[in-house]
Parts: sequence; C-alpha cells; structure tokens
Amino acid sequence: MSAIEAVDRYLETAREGQLEDLKQWLRIPSVSADPKRKEDVAKAASWLHERFESLGLSSEIIPTETHPLVFASTPPVPGRPVVLVYGHYDVQPPDPLDQWITPAFEPSVRDGNIYARGATDDKGQVLTHFQSVSAWLKSGQPLPLQVKFLIEGEEEVGSEALGKYLEKNSDKFAADVIVISDTSQYAKGQPAITYGLRGIAYFEVWAHGPKQDLHSGVFGGSVTNPGIALARLIASLHDSSGRVQLPRFYDSVIQLKESERERWRALNFQDSRMAQQLGVTELAGEVGYSTLERRWARPTCDVHGLMGGYQGEGGKTIIPATVGAKISFRLVPNQSPAEVAEQFKEFVAAFKQPGIRFEVKDLHGGPGVVIDPDSEFMKAGERAIFSAFGKTPVLMREGGSIPIVADMVKRLKAAVLLLGWGLDDDNAHSPNEKFCVEDYYRGIRASAHLWKELGELTC
Ligand code: BES
Ligand code: MN
Ligand code: MN
Repeated sequence: MSAIEAVDRYLETAREGQLEDLKQWLRIPSVSADPKRKEDVAKAASWLHERFESLGLSSEIIPTETHPLVFASTPPVPGRPVVLVYGHYDVQPPDPLDQWITPAFEPSVRDGNIYARGATDDKGQVLTHFQSVSAWLKSGQPLPLQVKFLIEGEEEVGSEALGKYLEKNSDKFAADVIVISDTSQYAKGQPAITYGLRGIAYFEVWAHGPKQDLHSGVFGGSVTNPGIALARLIASLHDSSGRVQLPRFYDSVIQLKESERERWRALNFQDSRMAQQLGVTELAGEVGYSTLERRWARPTCDVHGLMGGYQGEGGKTIIPATVGAKISFRLVPNQSPAEVAEQFKEFVAAFKQPGIRFEVKDLHGGPGVVIDPDSEFMKAGERAIFSAFGKTPVLMREGGSIPIVADMVKRLKAAVLLLGWGLDDDNAHSPNEKFCVEDYYRGIRASAHLWKELGELTC
C-alpha cells in the first residue's frame, strides 16, 4: 500500500473526531473586533496551539500588541518544497443574533451542514490542513515535505499585528508556497482554484456641523444638516453608470484580458439565480461589465454603516451635530490602498457643504493579488482537488480580500495557492454561517493529497 493510500484509509476512520474538533473550536467566540472577546480570542489561539503540540509539532503562541499569532511546524524535509499554511482563527461579530436559527457559538449540524460563526470563515477551512497533517502522522507515514502553519487572530480587522511581525521575522515563515483555504468553490459540486483577490481600502468619514444637536424646528432650514451633507457626499461617489468618481481611481487598474473574459463567460454564470439567492429583484453595477467581472475584477465603493442622529424608537426632531459613514473601496491589481486613500481624502476635501467640516479616518487596507495560473504549484493543487472532489477545479478570481496576502508574497518571495472549500451561499459574515460537512472531509482529503503532490516537486 502506498503512503497516500494508507493516509486515505486512515481518513475513512477519523471523521467523527474531526467533526468533534471543529465543534470544539467553533464554540470559542473569537470575535477579533470586539474588545470584550479578547480573552476568547486568546482561548481560540491556545486551543489550536495545544492541538498542534499534541500532534507533536513544534508550536508557539506569538503574543502581539493585539491578538496572538499561532505558529507550528513539522520537521524540515531537505530537497522538498516548504509549505506555509496561512489562515485565521478570528471571526466576524455574530449579530444580528435574533436571525440565527441556532446560536452562533453553539455549532449545530443540520442537512449536511455545520452551522456556527466561523464554520466556513475560517476555522473549518483552516482545520482541514491540520487534520490532513494529523492523518499523515497518525497513519505512520512520513510527511513528504515540511508544513508550517501561521494562523492569525485579526484577519477580519486588517491583520495589523501580523503585518508588523512579518517585517522582522520573515525568516521564520520562509516557504516556497503559501497555501490558503479562505475562499470558495465556484459552486456546489464544482471546486475551484482562485487566482485573484481584490484588495481593500477602508475608511470612516464624518460630517461635523453645529457644536451640539439642535432643535430642528427652531433652527431647521438655516444651517446645513450633517446627515444631508453626508448623504450628498455619498451620492456623489458614483456617477449614473456606476463609475467611482475619485480622481485618478481607474488610472492604474489593469484591464481584463479578452481571453479572461472569454473564460469567465464559459462558466455560464446566471444572474437570475444570484438575484434569487440574494433576495433582490435585479442586479446592478458598473455599465459594460458582467456580474462576474464586476465581482472579481472591477474596483468598487461601498457603504457599510451609517452612524449618528436619533436611532431610538419614535421621532426626535433634531439636527444631529455629527454623523458618519463606514466606506470602503475594493481594489484590483494594480491599485494601491495608499494611493486610493490619497484620492479619497482629496475627493472629500474638494467636496464643500456650507458650515460642514468633513473628516476622513483611515481604518485598514491591503492590495489585491493575481497569481500565475500556470505554475507547477497550481497543477499540483488541481491534482489534489481532483483526487478528493472527483472533478477538475475551475480557475476563478474572487471579490473578497485577504489583506495580508500581497505582503506575505512580497516578503517571503513565495507562490500562493488559494484552495477554497467554502460556497458562496455559506453566509460568511452573516447570520446562519455554515460549512458543508462533506466539503470539510473533502477539503481534508484534498489537503492530504496536496502534501503528496507538492512533495513530488523538487525545490
Ligand atoms: N475569507 C474572507 C475573504 C474572502 C471572502 C475571499 C470571500 C474570497 C471570497 C476574509 O475573511 C474576509 O472576510 N476578508 C475581509 C477583509 C477585511 C475585513 C479587511 C473582506 O474581504 O471584507
Ligand atoms: Mn476569511
Ligand atoms: Mn471574513
């Protein structure tokens, strides 16, 4: 029996424990954005660290000014590539809580899915790589290459600590290829390898008016209402064809290649199905581009939240002193988050409303990435996915962002493989987040095969 056959055989017997592991981890509410959850975030890090140690890997928790990093490694295998598995154990806030069918941090298996915050983004996907290494070791097979793990606790809030740590410690993470499972398949039954992600630049913008809230009967009509001023600013961010209006915003955008557009057309994407899935009557976006092009390869601007004014029950007649909005731009290669920040500040500075002072606060960001779809690593990924899913993966890009990826690629001079086991109806960041249990097992198997396939490449 070959090594990989022994591993596959072991995997058949290990399912129950693998699901139990995932449930345990999902019960820890590691919400990185919520200061009250700081201890839980640390607990989720310790949970993983202990799992690595009990497998016999060398592992450490790396404290940072914010949330800890978890690092682990198997022994070096000379002459073979080194893999770095990157992922995150932090999760998005679970609210609105009342929309969950079962509580966000009480994992529940229904109709073949496991429901919990973090199930698909990203605990379930991260664990597939832990389980695959575990399967090689527990079935008594020597791992064909060195696998390092770098699992962080603040991807969902911008990866600042990891960014700083990478500046000084890139040697520790030295690798030939970074493997990341934090994306999706193309559709149920159609696995994918992702070769592009959008970047992001995230801001708050505040409109400051009178020094305190005013009676809108006494003063209304005689001063600019900050809510209206902010609404005007937001409304002017796009023109009627859906183009973002920041100066020079599109200057560095790499245009889609005709061959790429052609390949995406062949994916037969159906707008009507997506509209139905999202519960909207029709889709909308930048004129001249298809839905997949808009989602995967065009830059955008969105409003995520509006703050200020009276939010309670009933009516309160005020002119609010200050209102704000959370706004981000999704970026595509070659746009730079720093340049877009400049452009946004310039745009806001030029936007005048009588008696209003606009203020822009920079939150976080990271550039987009595109990956060479023809590399040997990609081919190895394709073979591994085929072994587990029984289907050749399609190549796609995605619209989401993993802000630290571009930085890691640059500092480690490594290739990247984005192998996502999720689905785009997994409700990531939403109520009732889920992960298909069979995809968890298939992900584990694909990962186990990936170590074999990558281990056959010499470096
Ligand atoms: N896993 C996602 C990124 C993602 C989602 C990639 C879907 C591809 C498809 C990640 O956890 C995430 O949510 N990233 C944030 C980054 C932000 C908080 C800086 C995002 O994309 O909004
Ligand atoms: Mn994620
Ligand atoms: Mn996320």
